[in-house]
Amino acid sequence: MEEELCITTLEERDLNDLMGELVSVYQHAYATLPEYGYHSPQRIEGYIRWLWRGDPQGFFVAFLGERIVGFVGVHATWWEDGELFGEVHEFVVDPAFQGKGVGSALFGRALEYLTKRGRERVGLWVGEKNEGAMQFYLKRGFQKTIQYGKWVRMVKEVEIPVSPRDFGEAPLFRRNKR
Ligand SMILES: CC(C)(COP(=O)(O)OP(=O)(O)OC[C@H]1O[C@@H](n2cnc3c(N)ncnc32)[C@H](O)[C@@H]1OP(=O)(O)O)[C@@H](O)C(=O)NCCC(=O)NCCS
Repeated sequence: MEEELCITTLEERDLNDLMGELVSVYQHAYATLPEYGYHSPQRIEGYIRWLWRGDPQGFFVAFLGERIVGFVGVHATWWEDGELFGEVHEFVVDPAFQGKGVGSALFGRALEYLTKRGRERVGLWVGEKNEGAMQFYLKRGFQKTIQYGKWVRMVKEVEIPVSPRDFGEAPLFRRNKR
């Protein structure tokens, strides 16, 4: 049985209804990276609300059927050291669904959104030992710039999308495939 990945933004009432699940996906995604994530459910919930409120159209959630398998939160207007960025603040995929293209599809949608909002530069902070995420960003054209404590700044100059990866094409999923 195949299920299609569905990526969508959320109305505030959906955000409220789905908050428990979003917190859980976040906790699972950071379980092996405790130094880079928040821990208490209250703090995580507050953070997710901050992400959504800062740019509701930039908060994308990936569903497989009814289940949330990941989300990405970007703000299309973000000032960093006096420069305007489209900022990727958070990006998580449930570990049970990692390595299957969910992250690529989510990230592609987020970049597409930032491009449509006219951003020519996208930035993010990633943990210095978070090799997996860093590889993900390097493969997608981000470059390391500065480091602040344990956080590394990565930046990408955005072009018109040219590859399916950049378009955030949703892959088809086969249940139990792993
Ligand atoms: C980063 C993350 C969102 C990627 O999601 P995903 O669904 O696994 O991504 P995809 O399946 O689309 O892509 C996998 C790619 O991610 C990279 N990657 C992810 N985890 C990796 C790991 N442990 N080791 C090496 N590469 C890894 C690879 O570059 C891989 O390459 P490919 O595109 O050639 O296949 C996910 O790994 C995650 O939730 N990580 C924990 C939270 C986190 O670190 N978020 C980023 C904070 S800055």
